[in-house]
Amino acid sequence: MAAATSISAPDRVRIHPATLRGEVRVPGDKSLSHRALLVGALIGERIAVSGVAPSGDVASMAACLRRLGAEVALAPAWKAEDADGADGADGADEGRVAAPGSLAGTVRGPLVEPSDVLDCGNSGTALRLLAGVVAGIDGISVLTGDASLRRRPVDRVAAPLRAMGAHLDARDGGRRPPLVVRGGRLTAIAYDSPVPSAQVKSCVLLAGLAADGQTTVRSPLVSRDHTERLLGYLGVAVARSEEADGREVVRLTPGPLRPRPIAVSGDPSSAAFWLVAAAAGAGEVRIPGVCANPTRLGVVAALTAMGGEVAVEARGEVAGEPVADLAAAPVALTGAELAGRTVVDAIDELPVLALAGAASRDGLVVRDAAELRVKESDRIATLAAALRAVGLEIDERPDGYRVPGGQRPGPGTVHAHGDHRIAMTAAIAGVLGTGPVEVTGFAAVATSYPTFLRDLVRLGGTVEVLDA
Ligand code: S3P
Repeated sequence: MAAATSISAPDRVRIHPATLRGEVRVPGDKSLSHRALLVGALIGERIAVSGVAPSGDVASMAACLRRLGAEVALAPAWKAEDADGADGADGADEGRVAAPGSLAGTVRGPLVEPSDVLDCGNSGTALRLLAGVVAGIDGISVLTGDASLRRRPVDRVAAPLRAMGAHLDARDGGRRPPLVVRGGRLTAIAYDSPVPSAQVKSCVLLAGLAADGQTTVRSPLVSRDHTERLLGYLGVAVARSEEADGREVVRLTPGPLRPRPIAVSGDPSSAAFWLVAAAAGAGEVRIPGVCANPTRLGVVAALTAMGGEVAVEARGEVAGEPVADLAAAPVALTGAELAGRTVVDAIDELPVLALAGAASRDGLVVRDAAELRVKESDRIATLAAALRAVGLEIDERPDGYRVPGGQRPGPGTVHAHGDHRIAMTAAIAGVLGTGPVEVTGFAAVATSYPTFLRDLVRLGGTVEVLDA
């Protein structure tokens, strides 16, 4: 079963200008898929999961969980007839939220000291969330990943876990993976996170499940709350509040997890590519069954701030998460300056939003986004290189970018630098441009959206595969 759990993509493609029209189902949300498998494996009874993304990052999480002793049985679950028909207005209909290639199956813990190194591949979320879990497991765990992940910071999770009583060390003076964790009994803490990171918050909350009392995490801004919602759905007491100055406070009291099925809805970060393409002039698109958690709709907020219109039609709730159908069409975008909360909510969509900025009248300025520098690549630098390669002007700034308006991409060749979101941003530049865009290193899209090309073709795009 393990062999079928991720789908690969070609490494060199040429994307031609096109008009897009129609409907696609994007893969299950990456953040939700990680949490469904990881939290599911903490329950101790076999539980059903569905809508799980067939992506590289999620396959890495599944492989790590198996090394930690879990049984993870996943197989492609999508059938052609699921694409239409069922309307399940309460959102509980699994077929309605399933995308092509999506995985379903079961997960069963408990987790124990791993039999070998935990290879998280390209996934920062897998590494940081697993760190919180293994901190509460007796024994040694070593967490590592690919070259990109081994450049990314882990001190942000090591510090709070140390304060809870775990022993951690890492390469490069404790800053980068491999990360070694000696787990055991944990003490509950009140942690003030210096970054508004859902990965850090989730890491501490997951460790808090194994601690001896109430764990509190305070963050400078509200960030995605999937861990809190899922734990609440499974019966754990998690209280969230937002202080007057925008700071977020989450309190978790450990308790048993109630076995319940976990269904995953579509990924808004994948939907973002089609929404931006549509709003920037490519055509009309509709994406049903997308996770509509307000902390994940930053792309909708950003396009709206730029004068765009994205229809968000609520479709109920699945496993504690709101689900909606999203739709967008070409509109004369004005421009905007994004900062603060919108930037956190749109953190993974900021690369593709730059294309909306270029298509707009006044351009797009992004501030408070220094976190982009420590994503799968230095996303401010790789975005700037990608845009310039297709003839677009962009100013790189320490904490964001400025893209002047009134620009249209031209033909060119973009290197993805191992970053899935840069690869797909380049592909959308090809759709919107005046000539074809070649993308090398395109295979990186398998990290989150292995079926991207299939969906692009389905919407009317023209794709040449140059190197499979
Ligand atoms: C994620 C949180 C975000 C996001 C990442 C997924 C998560 O990272 O960029 O793609 O699933 O918690 P940070 O929490 O580090 O900002």
